Amino acid sequence: MNEPRMTSERNLALELVRTTEAAAMAGARHVGRGQKEVADQAAVDAMRHVLDGVEMNGIVVIGEGEKDEAPMLFNGEMVGNGEPPFCDIAVDPIDGTTLTAEGRAGAIAVIAASERGTMFNPGSAVYMDKIAVGPSGAGIVDIRLPVERNLTALAKARGLSVSDLTAVVLDRPRHADLIAEIRQAGARIRLISDGDVAGAIACASPNSGVDILFGVGGTPEGVITAAALKCMGGDLQGRLWHKTEEERQATIDEGKDPDAILGLNDLISTENCFFAATGITTGDLLKGVSYSRGGITTQSIVMRGRSGTVRFIEAHHQPAKLRKITPIGFG
Ligand code: FBP
Repeated sequence: MNEPRMTSERNLALELVRTTEAAAMAGARHVGRGQKEVADQAAVDAMRHVLDGVEMNGIVVIGEGEKDEAPMLFNGEMVGNGEPPFCDIAVDPIDGTTLTAEGRAGAIAVIAASERGTMFNPGSAVYMDKIAVGPSGAGIVDIRLPVERNLTALAKARGLSVSDLTAVVLDRPRHADLIAEIRQAGARIRLISDGDVAGAIACASPNSGVDILFGVGGTPEGVITAAALKCMGGDLQGRLWHKTEEERQATIDEGKDPDAILGLNDLISTENCFFAATGITTGDLLKGVSYSRGGITTQSIVMRGRSGTVRFIEAHHQPAKLRKITPIGFG
């Protein structure tokens, strides 16, 4: 690649975390208010505003949708101040819009970046079947194998029995057979109503109480998760999942193999990647936004692929001061 590369010294995620903090604080003002679009818009506006100040030449590969529908953070939009490094950007200002609107656990604001040209573009593929594990399961699990074989292999690699493992699964009717297979194999299940990015990352986090994620979730969320698991040394394998024959044909028309197994390196084809997420509502991975007299506290996770460093950052924000320097509605 001829474009200037990201330097090995700079940890872009330490700057990008300001965008997820802003999105989380703006979105958190709408927790439990029953209006997921309003919450999402507030988070989008806040993330977009802070992104302008980040020194990078970013192109949104995974955003809020096509330009006609999404006025901001749309796929193809340039973000950052235009200076190198040149990078691909994936954003999800709220993963868990319904969680936020209903005040449920596990909503996060999230962003990932990787060297330009290294991020999988999902195109029109909405859904992906996924299997995700932490470092102890990397190279062990295989999405082509039956659920029971994967659970047995993971348990063996960890010196546990299958009944010690907990699988995270999105609570959807499409997962009825999957849930039955996991139960049949003897593992425990944590059903989540939304938010499979945080669900998968929790599987790679020590002491989270969950071990492996199975099932069909969003394709964009799969790519974002891949960036995090690349940093953490975990694994994610995906296979596009089409609800209809038309969706499948659209994938073929876009030049993609609809049945291909997508590994971590297909989804993010570089170690030079970054990930940041901030909790909106408290979940397995992160604490949500909390308020005290005169201040707002956020908790974020920040990662860099080349070093593999994972940081948790607790930040204390002063809305009275922030109001003087930013138009974002933090409350
Ligand atoms: P939103 O925040 O966009 O609502 O996404 C939440 C989510 O649960 C994702 O985490 C997940 O990948 C996807 O939706 C699953 O899609 P569906 O709700 O259609 O099953």
